[in-house]
Amino acid sequence: MKMHLTRRETLKLLAAGAAGLMMPAVPVFGAMRKSVEYRRLGRTNLQVSVVGFGSLSIGLASTEQQRVGQLLNQALDRGLNIIDTAECYGHPDKNHAEILIGNAIGSRRDEYVLSSKVGHENGHFGQGSDWSSASIHRTIDRSLKRLKTDHLDIVHLHGCSVEILRAGEVIEALKKARQVGKTRFLAYAGSGERVRYAIESNEFDVVQLTLNVFEQNAIDDLLPLAQKRDIGVIAKRPIGNAVWRFPERPEWEWYAEYWDLIKPLDYPFFKGDALADPGPEGAAGMALRFLTSTPGVHTAIVGTTNPGRWTQNNDNVTAGLLSAEQYGAIRANWRALAGEKRELG
Ligand SMILES: NC(=O)c1ccc[n+]([C@@H]2O[C@H](COP(=O)([O-])OP(=O)(O)OC[C@H]3O[C@@H](n4cnc5c(N)ncnc54)[C@H](OP(=O)(O)O)[C@@H]3O)[C@@H](O)[C@H]2O)c1
Repeated sequence: MKMHLTRRETLKLLAAGAAGLMMPAVPVFGAMRKSVEYRRLGRTNLQVSVVGFGSLSIGLASTEQQRVGQLLNQALDRGLNIIDTAECYGHPDKNHAEILIGNAIGSRRDEYVLSSKVGHENGHFGQGSDWSSASIHRTIDRSLKRLKTDHLDIVHLHGCSVEILRAGEVIEALKKARQVGKTRFLAYAGSGERVRYAIESNEFDVVQLTLNVFEQNAIDDLLPLAQKRDIGVIAKRPIGNAVWRFPERPEWEWYAEYWDLIKPLDYPFFKGDALADPGPEGAAGMALRFLTSTPGVHTAIVGTTNPGRWTQNNDNVTAGLLSAEQYGAIRANWRALAGEKRELG
C-alpha cells in the first residue's frame, strides 16, 4: 500500500473530498455546549474524551497555523482532551503537525493528554524508518521541543514489525524515556498481527489500531485481548477517512480501498440524503457512533482540518449509542462481505 503522497497529491485529494458532495459547511451549534463523554483509557487510568483529535490531516495539508489554533482552542474549550500526533505527520519544517499543535496549545498543556509516535525520525508520512534506540530518544526530544512541553503522556512505536518488537531494543528505549519522565505510558500503533503481538507482550499500556465501519477485524481479533489485559484502545481512521465524500475513486490506494467497499457494504447511511446529513443519522454520525458503540474502544481520534468539526462530531456522539439492531446490521453486512477471506486488519 503506497502511503507517501506528494504535497500536490495531498492537496488534490483533500480538495476533491471537500468538493465531492457539496457537504454543507460545518454546522454552527450556537453557544450551547453539549455534554462530553470521557472514558477510562485502560490501565493508564487517564480519562479521555471519546471523541479525540488526530493530527494527520493538518500535517498532510500543512494547514495554516491560525486555523489550527482556532480548531484546537475551540475544541479544548468544549471538552476535547486527547490529541494524537506523530513524528512524521507533515514536512519536517513546514507546518508539521507537532509544530502546529505546540504553537496552538502548548500554553494549555495541562488540559490535554498528548500522544505521539516514534520510528520515522527522518521520514515524512509513511517513509523511511529507524528503530535504533538513539533515534527513538532523538525523536522524543524533538517532539517535546516541537510540542512545547517537557513530557508526553503516551509514546507509540509507529508500526514496527514483530521482529523488531521481539528484539526488544525499541521497548527498552521507551522504558528509558518513561524512567526519565519524558513519557508516562508506552504504546504501539499499527494493525493486525503486530498489534496482537504488542498486546500479548503485555509491555504496552495503550494500543492504537484501525477500526471503522469498513475494517472491523479488530472487534473480534484484538479488542477482547486488549480488554483482558486492561490496555487502553485508541481507534485510528475512525470514520474511514470519510471516503463517501469522493464522487470518484480516489487515487490514493489507502482511501480507494475503503471507497471500493461503499457499494458492496450497502449501509443505509451511505445512500441518498444520509450522505450529506451532518447529524447523528448521517454518514459521518453513524460511522462514528458505530465506533463509540463498540465495547472496548476508549477514544476515536477523528482527523480534521476544520474548526467546528470536533464539536459536530462530539454532538453526534451525544445522540447516543446505536441500537442493537443498527449495530448488528452493520456487523452483519460487513461479515457477509468479509466472509471467509477475513484477515487481521
Ligand atoms: N498510527 C498510524 O499508523 C495511523 C494511521 C492513520 C491515522 N492515524 C491517526 O488516526 C487519526 C484519524 O485518522 P484519519 O485522519 O486518517 O481518518 P479519519 O479520522 O477517519 O477521517 C478524517 C477525515 O474525515 C473528515 N471528517 C471528519 N469529521 C467529519 C464529518 N463529521 N463529516 C465529514 N467529514 C468528516 C475530515 O475532513 P475535514 O478536514 O473536512 O473535517 C478528514 O478528512 C489520524 O489523524 C492520526 O492521528 C494513525
